[in-house]
Order: sequence, then structure tokens, then C-alpha cells
Amino acid sequence: MNVFLGTLRDPKNNGFACLLHRSRGSHYCHTNDPLTVLGPRHGLALLYPMKISSLLSVFACLFFGLVTLSAADKSGKPLVVGFAQTGAESAWRTANTASLQSEATNRGITLKFADGQSKQENQIRALKSFIAQKVDAIILAPIVETGWEPVLREAKRAHIPVVIMDRKVQTTDESLYACFVGSDFYKEGEMAADWLAKNAGGKTRIVELQGEPGSAAANERRKAFADALAKHPELKIIDSQSGNFRRSGGKEVMEAFIKKHGHDIEIVYSHNDDMALGAIQAIEEAGLKPGKDIIIVSIDAIKEAIQAIVDGKISCTVECNPLFGPKIYDTVAKVVAGEKVEKSSYNKDELFDASNAAARIASRQY
Ligand code: AHR
Repeated sequence: MNVFLGTLRDPKNNGFACLLHRSRGSHYCHTNDPLTVLGPRHGLALLYPMKISSLLSVFACLFFGLVTLSAADKSGKPLVVGFAQTGAESAWRTANTASLQSEATNRGITLKFADGQSKQENQIRALKSFIAQKVDAIILAPIVETGWEPVLREAKRAHIPVVIMDRKVQTTDESLYACFVGSDFYKEGEMAADWLAKNAGGKTRIVELQGEPGSAAANERRKAFADALAKHPELKIIDSQSGNFRRSGGKEVMEAFIKKHGHDIEIVYSHNDDMALGAIQAIEEAGLKPGKDIIIVSIDAIKEAIQAIVDGKISCTVECNPLFGPKIYDTVAKVVAGEKVEKSSYNKDELFDASNAAARIASRQY
């Protein structure tokens, strides 16, 4: 009997990777050519028996964390995963894509990447193509919450598990996807509102820059903020519009708000940092001082926003950490292996303001 033991990868050894098997009492290491190891589609180039001493040293490396166990299917073949990303609307999204791509490379996973260019129909087309290609699993970062049932049903019929990443989907049947991994957007909106309630310093009139209409990120951040403000009737949203999570969108909408409301605006609540940074440009171009005339509260905690806190322009940003490639592939590997996973798994996020921004900026990775 041939038993697959795992896939080993040694980042210290030029990315050398091998697939360990035990067969009739001997151990074998299937390996790609170490020089072409980053392209598992090149196939298994060598098959050679390993001496038991080398095998022990590989396991010792594994024990001491020098190599990571990576994803492979039951036959030991590296996984082929389709990833339907929303697009590239923000610095957060760029960091998220990079995290998933680099971790796929680290684990020898063949990643088929599709950029949805902010259109749901592009993402649906990508999913259909992944299904036709019979990938082992699909990762979907859905642009909007609704409209996924038919294509999820197709994936289910083809026995291809779908891991929903970052933004949630609304379905009548939860068995259409394996699980969700991402941040708790509702909690983020609540944290932003709670910070404001304690630190608004007498300012009360808020304009809201919403994210992509119909997205879980915009829907939940909006609802959470409104729910929390209900406990603080002095704080009022005087206008709210979408800037589509884009810097240019944040600037344009803020310009329109300033034109319409002028000096009435005292606070900006932005659903992401890119729009907040765009709003800062509009505020400064209008001759006002961000952070003094207008308080800005935002979400994501990208490095540029932490710098803006240090510079006194943004007052607070709630983290939405995009760097969860490792967690996603751990989840995908379990789902493909038929192991039980949590239906919803949330990342841990924290809050940045003047109390911790300066100390944390140097170590910020995105
Ligand atoms: O879905 C997460 C949101 O999408 C991030 O807050 C935003 O920056 C991104 O584009």
C-alpha cells in the first residue's frame, strides 16, 4: 500500500519541496526538479528512494519549523486552486492578492488567479471556468453579497468546494459553500463608532463614505456604525454616499460633500483608508485641516493611514488585516481532505490611533 505522508517544503533550501510517501516499508520522496520547483505544473521530475537518515532529518526540520506542511490532494499531487478576486480597488486588496499569491508559491499550490475588475459577472465567469477546469477548490472574494446561488450550485454539483474569503455571501442554502474566512466587518464598524463616541470632542455632524454598494464590507460597516450611533443621539450622519472603496471615489465624494455642506461637516466616517486618504486631499484643497477642522475615522489600517495618524490627519483606523494567505490555504487543505472546519472563521483585528500609531508604523507590512 502507498501511503501519502505530506508535502515538505524547505524555504531555506532554495524552495526545495518533496512529497513524502511510504510504500511496502520504504520511504520515498517524489520531487520536482529543485530548479523548477515553483511550477508544480511542470510535474514530478524525479522519483527516488530516500535513506532513512535523510528522512529523519526532514522530519527533524519539520519539527523545528524549518519546513511547512503544504497542501496536496490525497494522491499527493499539489493542489490546483482557482482564486476569484474582486479586483484591485485599494491598497488593502493589493496586499491581500499578494498574500494569497506568495503563500500559494510557498506551498507549491498551482493558483489560477482571476481579477474580477470590480464586476460580479466577471467573477461568475471565472468560477464557471474553474469548474470546467476541474480545480481542487475555489476561493471566492465576492464583490457583492447576493446573486451567487446558481454558480455555487454548479460548483457543488461538480464536487468542488468553495471557500468564501473576505466578504460574505447571502444564500438560502449554506451547504453551497464550505466556509467563510475573513474579518468581522460589523465589529469593525462598531469599534469605529465606539472610538468616536469617546473622542469626538464636541464635534457631532458626520459624513459617511461608503464602500462598494451591495458588498458585505459596506453593508455591515454601515449598519454597525448606525446601530452604535443610536446610543449616542448627539452624533448624526448628515450625508452618506459611496466612493466604491477607491481613493479617487473618496476624493470626488468628499468634494461634493464640502460643496453641499461646507463647514457643517465635522467628522468623516470612511469605510476604508483609501477613500479616507482621497477625502484628505479634498479637505486640504478646500483650505481645511484634516484632523483638526474635520476628524477622520476609517477602516483597514494600511501603512499610509497609520502614517496619516502620526501626521495628525487621520484620528483612528480599525484594522482589517488582508494578510491571511496562510490561514486560507490551511482551510482549503482541510476542506479538500474532507476535514471539518468552522463555518465562519474571523481574523483578529485591532484599532490604531495616536496612542499606538508611531510605535507600530515601522513594523507595518501593508
Ligand atoms: O472587503 C474588504 C474591503 O475591501 C477593504 O476594507 C477595502 O479596502 C477593500 O477594497
